[in-house]
This record gives sequence, C-alpha cells and structure tokens, in this order.
Amino acid sequence: MTGADTPGAGPARITRIVRYPVKGMTGQPVERVALTVGAGLPLDRILALRNGSTAPATGAEWVPSEAFLRLVKNASLARHRLTLDDAAGELRIGSPDGGVIVIRLDAGRPRPADVARAGRTLRGWFPAGPLGPVSVESTGVPLWDWPRAAVSIVNLDTLDAMATAGEVPLDPRRFRANLYVAGLGAWRELDLVGRRVRVGGAELEIVQATERCRATTVDPATGVRDLNVPVLLASRFGHLYCGVYARVVGGGPVAVGDPFTDTGGRVDPAGLPAPAPDRPRYATVAERLPRSPTVVTLRLRDPAGVPCAPGQHLRVHTADKGGPLWRCYTITDASIGELRIGVKRLDDGRVSSLLHELRAGERLLISGPYGDPPLSPDAGRPLLLVAAGIGITPVLPLLRSVAATAPQRSVTVVNVARTERETPLWPEITALANRLPNAEARLHLTAPEGPLPPGARQGRPTAEEFAHLAKDPLTEAYLCGPSSFVQSVRAALRAAGLPEESVKDEPFFSPVAAALTELPPPSPGPFTVRFATSGIEARWTPEDGTLLDLAETAGLRLPAACRAGACGTCRRPVKGRTAHLLTPAAPVGAGNALLCCAVPTSDVTLDA
Ligand code: FES
Repeated sequence: MTGADTPGAGPARITRIVRYPVKGMTGQPVERVALTVGAGLPLDRILALRNGSTAPATGAEWVPSEAFLRLVKNASLARHRLTLDDAAGELRIGSPDGGVIVIRLDAGRPRPADVARAGRTLRGWFPAGPLGPVSVESTGVPLWDWPRAAVSIVNLDTLDAMATAGEVPLDPRRFRANLYVAGLGAWRELDLVGRRVRVGGAELEIVQATERCRATTVDPATGVRDLNVPVLLASRFGHLYCGVYARVVGGGPVAVGDPFTDTGGRVDPAGLPAPAPDRPRYATVAERLPRSPTVVTLRLRDPAGVPCAPGQHLRVHTADKGGPLWRCYTITDASIGELRIGVKRLDDGRVSSLLHELRAGERLLISGPYGDPPLSPDAGRPLLLVAAGIGITPVLPLLRSVAATAPQRSVTVVNVARTERETPLWPEITALANRLPNAEARLHLTAPEGPLPPGARQGRPTAEEFAHLAKDPLTEAYLCGPSSFVQSVRAALRAAGLPEESVKDEPFFSPVAAALTELPPPSPGPFTVRFATSGIEARWTPEDGTLLDLAETAGLRLPAACRAGACGTCRRPVKGRTAHLLTPAAPVGAGNALLCCAVPTSDVTLDA
C-alpha cells in the first residue's frame, strides 16, 4: 500500500474520553461513559452560547454551529475555564477576569432559572451580535456540529505524524474530540469512513472525515492563535482532514483503555453524506500501463465514485523516509468509479518514483478531483491548447472530449518540449487531431536529440505565432505547464488581444512547507468584503483569518490548493487594497490577491 499512513503499534485503544458541556469551551475528561444509540456522550454540548447573529431557536430543530460562539471566530472562549461536578450536578464557567457563572443540573438538564441568569451575565462577557445579545441555548436539542454524527474521534498517531511533519508540538486538545485513539497507525481513520467499529461495549458507524478549520489554530491553554493547523495539513499533507465523526448504533459502556476495532461491517451508503471530492480515500490500482521508459499510466478504482471531467486533476498523498509527500496529477480519462493518471518519472521525483513502483492491486491515497472543467460548452469558439512537456497530459482528454462532443470544432494544440522523449503522448495527440477535420497539432522542440520529426518546429513559438493563433477574439485558450511558462504564454495571448477570462490555466506547482505561525494583519478593520459573483457580503476582522477563510465561513467553496501562497489556485481579481501575510511563491499579478494568504486593508470587492 502506498499512502501517507503508517502501520499502528496496535492494538488500537481509547486513551482519552472528553465531553464538552458548553459548545466551544474547554472539555471535561472522564474515565468512562455509557453510550446510547443515536446520542452523543452524556452531558456533551448540552449548552451553547448564541452569538446574536440569528433568531433564537424554536426548540425543535438542530441549529448549525454558525449561530453560536465558536473557537473559529471567538478564540477567547479557550480562556474561560469550565468545570463540571457530576456528583453535585453543577457546571461552573469562569471568565479570564474572575467572573463565575454557576448552572445547576437536574437529571442532566440545566435549570431554566440558572440559564436565564447566565445569559444576563454573559452579556457583559461577550459583545452582542447584529441581531441581539449573546444568550444561552439550552433547548434539549443536540448541539453537535453535525445533526447525525454525535461523536468525534481523533487518531493520536495522525497527530504524531502531523507534529513530526510540522516540527511543532501538537496539543491533542486543539482537536476537541470526544474519543482519542492510539495504536491505529497514522491516517488509518480516513480508511474507516463507511465502516463499523467496536469501541468497548459500544458499536459506532464512522460516517465522515473531519475537515479542519481555524478553530484548531487556537492554543487550548492560552486562547492565543499560535499555530496554523490548516496550513500544516494543506502544505505538508495536501488535504485538510484529520479525525472522523461517528454515530452510535449499538449502545454500551466505553472506558479509557478499551480496544477500538474495525468490525468489518459496512455502513449503508444511503446513510452516509455525499462524498466530498477533497476527502482523501484509498483507490486501488486496477492496471499499470507503461507508455514509455519514463511514463506510466495508472488506472485507479476510486471507491468514492466522485464524478470527474477531463482536465481536472487528482492529488496523490504518500510518504517516504523523508516524510509526507503529495502531488497533483491530471486525470487523463475518467468514468464513475474509475480514473487514469499519467505519471512521468522525474530524476529527483520522490513521488513519481513511488508511483512507478506500484503494481495492480496495491492501494493509493487520493483526493479530488480538483479544478474547474477547463472547457466551455460553446463549440463555436476556436480552442487553443498550449502545453509544456508532460503538461500535454490534460490535453489528451480534452481533445477526446472535443472528438466525442463537437468534432467540427476548430482546435489547435501546441506542445513545447525539450526533446521528443519528454512528450510521450504526442503520437496519440497527433493521431487524434488527424481524425478531426478542423484540428491541428504543433510540436515545438527546444533541444531536439536528432532530426526533427515530421511537422515539428525547433524553438519556442514566438509572440507573432501566438498572436496569429489567437487572432479570432472568440478563441478560448487552456494552458498547462510550469508557472513561468503559463505566465509567459498568458502574457503573449493578452498582448495579442485575448481577454483574460478567455484563458484558463493549470500551472504545475510543488508543495512548499509554509510557515505555521500566523502573521498579524496590518490593519484591524473592520472591512466590508463583497463577493461580487455570488452576491454575498461579509464583514472582516482579524478573527476571520484570510479572505479564503472568510469566504468559506460565508459558505463559499472557492478553488484553493496549497493554502500557502505557492500554487496560485486561489488567485482572484480584487478591487480595493489587500496585503499578503507571507511572501507568495506564486505570481500574484496586479489587481489580484491570493485569497489563501491575503487579508483586506480596505473595503474590497472580490471576483468570486
Ligand atoms: S491555494 Fe495555493 S496559492 Fe492560495
């Protein structure tokens, strides 16, 4: 198996059980609990603090966590100390400046009079929201983050792998799990989604992996944002997932030290949320097809069966002795449940070397697809596909798509490579182009090893050639190659008069180990951020993090890859002033910002 995971020391056991009586506040460790079907831990999330941003609940419905004070936006919650005295039936919340709230419990339910008094006190502790003051929610409806998954589980072996990769200590309390398990092996929890596990005397269904947000940046001991865990995950591992959510399907006692075992049972897929494309999961190598001495095609079976379009890309998550690794590979062909990627073995390629060693039947941790489908459906527009070297890989599925859906479309393929060996798919490209009445394929070799093959040209295309190729103002262009190549072709096409929005690109990029400390934004705001395309407007303060964090909190899913200023995926046109909290490795361009590491320094409008 090739994955980012490691074998566990096993057998896996529960090392810690924690309940969180007040959502967002400190947890209370316990030695044992009794789990019941369909419920969470007893006394877990029985109270939450409404942030005044929404109307009060009627008491009947589950309420999304955005309605409550949460660490993701209210780091000071971590500085409030909470204690729960089971014997006395008393919950105490202490504020950093010495204030105390006491809420008595009757049979596990907070006394209404105490809740009302607590609400009045809290108004002096936390600022009001736009629709009202902070108040205490205690309706009896579960206040978990997800309506159908009450128990969160974190794998301590995964946290060890993260701490090693980030070269930082990682307090497990940042992840606010109910159950902590050790001995499973790093990242093995991701393989348990859709399975049943036995924990002590209870049985749980693992229903989804946990995507990590800015809540984990807060040190649970100090309430200070000191470690950018999402960037640690994204830049070192290529995804944002750590831990899983589960629901109790067989009640029973669970105690610290109890074994945690995969029963082999499967969850009914109808009861699982739709698989998120970016959730890492294990694919199986169905076939390995050598294409040249340096290029192999892998046919992969994807258990998630997420739909893909030609030209989108996949991430491969793996590891070697040097630590975790991840890379992007273009999907060259896809059907539901099956994908193909082309892998060129690079001289110093740690990932490509591992992938070349894979054999049929072995497993590989993947996520995706990522990226928008690159082609518009308007077959009347001429298509210009420009690739450097192995960047020709996504062009093949695009050309196949044209052949299948719009064979009359005007298409020009330009491949720039040093040698013929660098572009092993070229014979397939030319054969396909020759079958299309309005297609042309041009090969440019910059360092040919012998006589030029028929039709090939020596040297890069000139600006005049690009101007000629883009002479029709309706031309739609797609570029793939190293960032510098993509930028230079984009500039040539812009100089030729092609509108910016008619050019899509997929630059190659290598993950970078971005800094994990958060730099302070230069201005405290608040600023208004308008997302012009979606019509959403949000108010930014430093607590909201980057513009990408703010967009995600507002419910937008924008393209992002490295979250570390390295790939350019999150680049967006911006009107207004922004600042980057690190020096971006990817080109930004005038009038743009890399949302993953940018904050506003004035009111701004984003093209998103
Ligand atoms: S996501 Fe890579 S630069 Fe922003």
